[in-house]
Amino acid sequence: MSNHDPQVLLTGVTGFIGGRLVRNLAAEGIKVRCLVRSPRKLPGALQSLPGVEFVSGDLLKADTLVSALEGMGAAYYLVHSMGGRNLAEIHSFAERDRQAAENFVKAADAAGLERILYLGGLGELGDNLSEHLVSRLQVAKILQSGRARATVLRAANIIGAGGAPFEMLRHLVERLPVMVCPRWVDTRCQPIAVENVTDYLLGCLREPATAGLTLDIGGLDIITYRQLMQIYARVRGLRRLIISVPMLTPRLSAYWINLMTPVPAGIVMPLVEGLKNEVICRENRIRELVPIRLISMEEAICTALTETERGPGALPSRQACFLR
Ligand SMILES: NC(=O)c1ccc[n+]([C@@H]2O[C@H](COP(=O)([O-])OP(=O)(O)OC[C@H]3O[C@@H](n4cnc5c(N)ncnc54)[C@H](OP(=O)(O)O)[C@@H]3O)[C@@H](O)[C@H]2O)c1
Repeated sequence: MSNHDPQVLLTGVTGFIGGRLVRNLAAEGIKVRCLVRSPRKLPGALQSLPGVEFVSGDLLKADTLVSALEGMGAAYYLVHSMGGRNLAEIHSFAERDRQAAENFVKAADAAGLERILYLGGLGELGDNLSEHLVSRLQVAKILQSGRARATVLRAANIIGAGGAPFEMLRHLVERLPVMVCPRWVDTRCQPIAVENVTDYLLGCLREPATAGLTLDIGGLDIITYRQLMQIYARVRGLRRLIISVPMLTPRLSAYWINLMTPVPAGIVMPLVEGLKNEVICRENRIRELVPIRLISMEEAICTALTETERGPGALPSRQACFLR
């Protein structure tokens, strides 16, 4: 990108993906404006990144989006509404997601935004899809309905330190020598390393041919959740026994995952419901459009463990992975 390139709006900077992407954008010299609804959650290190500014805004408050989008050429949409402080909030995430996306498209059209880059979820409609995955598809459709050309990247579980899938995996395998799981343990998925996801997000901004496309992104390994847990155990040198019991319901397993891990119930519940759905790339056009080195799950887990121990950006170390 050159100095004449339009500035980029980033939503979700206090989150797992946005907090990483902003560093990559700044390192590339791209000017970024971050829309933040809870500035107290912003890590100090992000606030001093060169070329990065922060504005207050909330996707559920349409009037806060107009000035945030002014002068922007492209915007990353890296937001979901799962979570919540009470049962009513936990169960109404899809409605908030719909409202937020509609507000955003309206404001983007008014501001003359050219491109939207959205990271959503894999999974096919009509496949008894979980409410969370249906909501991700609905958001994609809304974002594609405006005048800006939307690039939709669809991913399964993203593996990286601090992300919900890795933290659930880490706490379960570390804490439970014997795991009793429902049938979902043998569902297939195609997890991807968070470093590969941020590379794709940046690559799509740079590659105009990705504008307006829906592209599946996945890692090298198509595996079951059982195999994912076994890879984690192998990387950590742990012996683990995983038993599947057909009568255990996803709801029940969500309760014990919530007990065993620090991931909030409002996130665990919808994610665990989605474990029944196969999340595998239907096509791999992204590999030609944005060629990058894909990271194996073993390396992704090793990097995430190293970062958990030594902080963001630490290189994978055999000490962090094999020798504890
Ligand atoms: N993590 C994964 O494994 C995974 C897999 C596939 C796809 N994705 C997609 O990647 C995107 C980012 O996910 P993530 O894992 O980074 O999520 P995350 O860590 O939970 O972060 C969510 C972000 O959304 C922001 N947000 C929520 N509601 C908002 C609102 N009304 N206005 C403004 N900001 C709002 C949050 O801000 P606050 O800090 O203020 O709450 C936070 O910055 C989502 O679209 C998700 O579907 C993630």
